[in-house]
Amino acid sequence: MAGSRDFFNRRLHSLLGVIPVGLFLLVHLTVNHFATRGAGSFNKAVNFMENLPFLIVLEFLLIYLPLLFHAIYGLYIVFTAKNNVGRLSYFRNWMFLLQRVTGVITLIFLAWHVWETRIRYALGQTELNYDMMHDILSSPVMVVIYLIGVLSTVFHFANGLWSFMVSWGLTVSPRSQRVSTYFTMIVFLALAIISVRTIFAFI
Ligand code: HEM
Repeated sequence: MAGSRDFFNRRLHSLLGVIPVGLFLLVHLTVNHFATRGAGSFNKAVNFMENLPFLIVLEFLLIYLPLLFHAIYGLYIVFTAKNNVGRLSYFRNWMFLLQRVTGVITLIFLAWHVWETRIRYALGQTELNYDMMHDILSSPVMVVIYLIGVLSTVFHFANGLWSFMVSWGLTVSPRSQRVSTYFTMIVFLALAIISVRTIFAFI
């Protein structure tokens, strides 16, 4: 019984990492990338998102609750799961470790980022616009924190896609797993370039 509950939680954790949390990450990075076209374009894109009907319900159902489950169960996995030494290749062992390390960095970064933007906005302490991000990133320390936080998040998502495809039986053979290593590396590189360009567009 405990075994099947564990299996269910594992599957749910895996699914939520891609749908909806991973999909939200892609939407979020796309909207933010409008900053590379100037403050006006970014503000227009943010305004569109802010005016979606039932925004708060959508945020809780599609972002906060799934992310909370993924993060809490993720911490449980980080601190209780057995390591894979010997079962995986040398490269995959490193990816396995990095998946856990970036999960924890992502959690700390997201807690800070959500507080600094969404919660402060809800408390009426800031506007959600280009100037808010420009002010935050006017400090070089914050630029470094954002670079580490965002790169860690996109690595965690891209590398997570690799294990997601294994978990759900989409890549079974060694060859398909090799191909998906290249695919997820390309996903990481593309998202890393998009994110770094966006951060510098606010400076
Ligand atoms: C934007 C936020 C996040 C996204 C998009 C995301 C996405 C993913 C994806 C797609 C996977 C692969 C699922 C699988 O192996 O089947 C994964 C795995 C994992 N995530 Fe996250 N995640 C995020 C945040 C977090 C946070 C905050 C933690 C907290 C520590 C975390 C911990 C983990 C762990 C430990 C795994 C490995 C599970 C395993 O190998 O069994 N994730 N994540």
